[in-house]
Amino acid sequence: EALRLWGGRFEGGPDQALARLSLSTHFDWRLARHDIAGSRAHARALHRAGLLTDGELDRMIEGLDRLEADVASGAFTPVLEDEDVHTALERGFIERVGPELGGRLRAGRSRNDQIATLIRMYLREEARQIADLLLDLVEALADQAGAHPGAAMPGRTHLQHAQPVLLAHHLMAHAWPLLRDVERLRDWDRRAAVSAYGSGALAGSSLGLDPQAVAVELGFPASVENSIDGTAARDVVAEFSFVTAMVGVDLSRLSEEVILWATKEFSFVTLDDAFSTGSSIMPQKKNPDVAELARGKAGRLIGDLAGLLATLKGLPLAYNRDLQEDKEPVFDAVDTLHLLLPAVTGMIATLVFHTDRMAELAPQGFSLATDIAEWLVRERVPFREAHEIAGTCVRVCEERGADLPDLSDEDLAAISPHLTPAVREVLTVEGSLASRAGRGGTAPVRVAEQLERLRSAIDEN
Ligand code: ARG
Repeated sequence: EALRLWGGRFEGGPDQALARLSLSTHFDWRLARHDIAGSRAHARALHRAGLLTDGELDRMIEGLDRLEADVASGAFTPVLEDEDVHTALERGFIERVGPELGGRLRAGRSRNDQIATLIRMYLREEARQIADLLLDLVEALADQAGAHPGAAMPGRTHLQHAQPVLLAHHLMAHAWPLLRDVERLRDWDRRAAVSAYGSGALAGSSLGLDPQAVAVELGFPASVENSIDGTAARDVVAEFSFVTAMVGVDLSRLSEEVILWATKEFSFVTLDDAFSTGSSIMPQKKNPDVAELARGKAGRLIGDLAGLLATLKGLPLAYNRDLQEDKEPVFDAVDTLHLLLPAVTGMIATLVFHTDRMAELAPQGFSLATDIAEWLVRERVPFREAHEIAGTCVRVCEERGADLPDLSDEDLAAISPHLTPAVREVLTVEGSLASRAGRGGTAPVRVAEQLERLRSAIDEN
C-alpha cells in the first residue's frame, strides 16, 4: 500500500497519468540528505514545544540517523509510488520507527516550507563548491599570466587590431569577471541564508515551534520574516541561476578566443592533446571541443534561467505546484558547471602560447597609430590635430605598403613639422606598452602589480 501524505479526503487513488506527472523523486532525491537534516531540526522543535517526550525525541533522532545511513548506502531508495523526496523519506521513517511515532513528525510543517528550505540548503552548499571551481580557473589564468610576463599581443576592438597589449593583461581581463562571479555567489548567499521552516503551508504554525532555532540548526542565521514569502518566493533560486548563466557567458567568451587562437590563421596557441579531440575522418585534425562545449553550454545555462523566470512570472501567492519546476533547471545548471569548469581549467592550464607569433603581429595593422597621436598631445598638439597627423601617417604607409616605423625623418617632417624623430621612441611595441602606465593600463609595471592584486584577491576568497 503506497503512502500518500494526503489520502484522507479522497475515495480512490490517483490515476496513473497523474501519478506519473506528479512524480519528482527522479530529480529531487538529491535533496534527501537535507530533508533528513530538516526533519531532525523539526523533531527538536516539536520536543521543545512540549509535543514530544524526551524518549520520543531520542527514538525519532535514532530513526532518522538509521534512515540517513540507509539512504547513503543505497539500502533505502524511493519507489514509484513515492510522490516526491519528502513522501519517500516519510515512508522510510515510518518503516523504521513505526506509524505511531512516525506519524508525529509531520506536525507543524508542510512540504511547502520544507522544499523552500531544502533548496536553499542545497544551493548554498553548491555555491561554495562552484566558487572553488571558479577560483581554480582564475588561478590557472593567473599562472599563465605570471608565466608570460613580457609577452605582447595584438589588442583588438571590433576584432580588428587596435593597440598592442600584454598577453598577461588580456588573460587577467578574463580572470576578473570570473572573480566577480565568485563574489556574486558569496553575496547571493547572504540572501539565501534564510530558513523557511516554520512557515507551514503558508500561514505559519499554531504549535509553538521556534523557527529561529530550526534555522540555526540548519546553518541559517535567520528564519523568514513572512511565511507567505517564505513558501512562495523563488527569487533566490532565480538569482543563483543568473549567476550560473553569467558564468556560462564568461566561460563562453574566453572559449571563443581560445577557438580563434587555435586556428592556423592565428596560431597563437596549441591545445594540449589531453584537452583536444580528433576527427573520425580527417587524420590531421585537432579540435578545441572543450572550448566549443563551453560555448554551447552557455546557451543551455541561459535557457535554464529563462525557463525558470518564465515559470515564476505569472504565479499568484503562495505555493503553487508550478514551483516544483524550479528544480530541474537549477540542478542542470549545477551539474553543467561541475562538468565544465574542471575541463576549461585544464584546457587553460595546459595551453601553449606562441609568444613569438603574437609579438610579431602586435604592431601590425598600424596598431601604433594611437601612440603617435598621444606623443603629439604630450608635445602640446591639440588631440584633433594629432589624430589627423597620425591618420595621415597611416595613409602614407598604406599607399606605400610600408609600416609606421618605416617612415623616414623626412617623411615624418613632410607630414607635420611636429613629427620630430623623437616620435620613434613610441613606435615600438615595447615603447607603446611601457607608455600606458596609468592605473589599470597594460604597461609591464602596472600588469605586474595587477597580478599581485589578483593573487591576493584569490587568497581572500
Ligand atoms: N515536490 C514539491 C516541490 O518541489 C513540494 C511538494 C509540495 N506539494 C504540494 N502539493 N503542496 O515544490
